[in-house]
Amino acid sequence: MTPARDDLSAMTPHFTKDSAYEREAHEFVCVLAQKAIELIGAEGGCAGIRRPEGLECLKYFRKGEALPLECCFPLGDGLPGWLILHKSSYLTNDAPSDPRIRREFYQTYGVRSVLSTPILDANGEVIAFFELHNRLNGSGFDDRDEQLMLLVSQLASFALQKALAYSRKVAVRRHEQDLRQSEERFRLLVEGVQDYSIFMLDPEGRVSSWNKGAELIKGYEASEIMGRHFSCFYPEEDIRSGKPQKELEVATRDGRMEDEGWRLRKDGSRFWANVLITAIRDDSGRLVGFAKVTRDTTEKMKAQALLQEANERLANEVRERTEAQQKLANSESALRQLSLHLLRTQEEERRRIGRDLHDSLGQYLSVLKMKLDSVADSSDMPRQDIRECASLAEECITEVRTMSYLLYPPMLEEKGLKSAIPWYLDGFTKRTGIKTSFEVSPDLPRPLRDVELALFRVLQESLINVHRHSGSPSADIRLLEKEGGLVLEIRDKGKGIPADLERSGQDSVGSLGVGLRGMKERMQHLGGKLELTSTSEGTRVTATVPIEQSSSGLAK
Ligand SMILES: Nc1ncnc2c1ncn2[C@@H]1O[C@H](COP(=O)(O)OP(=O)(O)O)[C@@H](O)[C@H]1O
Ligand SMILES: [Mg+2]
Repeated sequence: MTPARDDLSAMTPHFTKDSAYEREAHEFVCVLAQKAIELIGAEGGCAGIRRPEGLECLKYFRKGEALPLECCFPLGDGLPGWLILHKSSYLTNDAPSDPRIRREFYQTYGVRSVLSTPILDANGEVIAFFELHNRLNGSGFDDRDEQLMLLVSQLASFALQKALAYSRKVAVRRHEQDLRQSEERFRLLVEGVQDYSIFMLDPEGRVSSWNKGAELIKGYEASEIMGRHFSCFYPEEDIRSGKPQKELEVATRDGRMEDEGWRLRKDGSRFWANVLITAIRDDSGRLVGFAKVTRDTTEKMKAQALLQEANERLANEVRERTEAQQKLANSESALRQLSLHLLRTQEEERRRIGRDLHDSLGQYLSVLKMKLDSVADSSDMPRQDIRECASLAEECITEVRTMSYLLYPPMLEEKGLKSAIPWYLDGFTKRTGIKTSFEVSPDLPRPLRDVELALFRVLQESLINVHRHSGSPSADIRLLEKEGGLVLEIRDKGKGIPADLERSGQDSVGSLGVGLRGMKERMQHLGGKLELTSTSEGTRVTATVPIEQSSSGLAK
């Protein structure tokens, strides 16, 4: 198994890039390489040091010149990579046919002979290397050169190991310094925070650090509170119930503990706190204390309480209003029931009075007339007087009949609206002099009895209004079927309903008179509606009842 790259570089003795010793070490191997080139009498060569990535070369020496050469040979790559693995020197006098030698060396510089020597540390690991190219005299390198170079590499090893150790020490020292600085920065940051009280407790719960925020929120200065047990921030009742200790136990068990509740300031006043306690452990997992962050959320809590109060008030108001609306709806419906009851009673009463007038008073009057007629023939009394009495009785009979029919037209029940309306219009014109017209679809189904009566009452009331209020010389009546409804329309050419009255007529209560309101009620009761359209040219009353409500097969 090959070790992961990071593990490998951690185990490798190497120079770190940013260390000054790396540069110095490099310089040092380069100087040694130049000396070796002179010593052996070679044309040129190079040198490099160990870095986490591999062996790194910076310069190529050739005929006394230093050319830049920036390349790094990883483990197993090229000749330097071979050196890292094999940790022994390498010699060849046939570079062009040696796959370990980079082509550019013999292509560009005509390198034929190569002598490469690793520099090992005390553990035998490669920490640097030298490489010599071509002898000046044209002959290849030999064993003697190799031995000499091994000696040079041993000498270099001492110096480099020292540099390496030193560079490591410096790196460690710098790391420690960085750590100290960042700790200091963090400490300053924590101390400076004013909105949060941030402090540390030792494992027993005694205060071991204090920040500005803690001072502001709790009122203690660091010198007064350091070393005191943190239970002094809790109200009496919490201390009695062992809350502070329990909170530490929870934080120890779960790693953290969050809580909201009342806490005490130094002056004994209370504030609503949001508290977070975190257990702090060292590398081995041993509990070394607790970090405690406290926020004063009294204002937030108060605002929330106010908001909640306002919400509750609003909810109450809504509830009260709904109840009032319900009551209003109830009393409205009770009123409607009452008015319907009144209308019904009124109808019954009218029918009774009508019948009484017709059946009893009418009969008496008829008998009286008959008697008067026979008396007139036989009596000694002056005939003229008796005839006048008879004609008065005749008029009474007509009047009583009219009254009784108007109160409850028997024709309505017998023949229906289609006949009752013309009969009524006839009488109306005679009594008022107002001309009328009636239009009705011939195939109109006969509505239910209740519907007929209601529509007849609308007709009566409307025509009385035309007579009383409109000043119109005529009235036009239509009875028709329209959009699934049975429609009765009464139109006049009078002065129109006063604007304010008409407006109030749009809602159900308004300041309408009893007549119009009664009509509306009757129509609503049947699931229909009453519409008023009025201009200075005249008024139109339209009563509509749904067909299914207005007729049935049996009633046709
Ligand atoms: N056809 C009409 N032309 C002009 N004004 C009318 C007409 N019908 C009703 N009005 C007006 O509407 C009012 C309300 O009518 P109504 O509810 O029948 O009560 P009332 O007839 O007892 O006054 C009348 O007083 C009148 O001013
Ligand atoms: Mg009226």
